[in-house]
Amino acid sequence: MAKIEVDLSKIPEGKNVTVKWRGKPIFIRHRTPDEIAEANSVALGELKDPQADADRTKKPEWLIMLGVCTHLGCVPIGEAGDFGGWYCPCHGSHYDISGRVRKGPAPLNLEVPPHDFPEDQLLDAL
Ligand code: FES
Repeated sequence: MAKIEVDLSKIPEGKNVTVKWRGKPIFIRHRTPDEIAEANSVALGELKDPQADADRTKKPEWLIMLGVCTHLGCVPIGEAGDFGGWYCPCHGSHYDISGRVRKGPAPLNLEVPPHDFPEDQLLDAL
């Protein structure tokens, strides 16, 4: 299967980058320590699709997700919405800084694709 490789050293802390893989956007966020702490502070009982942040990341500072809303497939906007993460303008789904759905019609969290970090500053996705 074709992979994409991304040089993470070019993405500063606190920034989002979107790369395309086979026509689908992949969101990469270099999270700050505050964002990681916030993602871990959420009680799983508050979540529609309960997933611990630690189960969604291999390295907490790097959040890697498919940029496809789990409602009807629009591309959410970064650094938007009520939960400090992503907002889908199509029907108003809000995702938090772990990409977990917090409000709106989306049934599931943004999907985390298979990925790896073969070297410290390198991402292999899918
Ligand atoms: Fe995102 Fe409907 S497609 S809220």
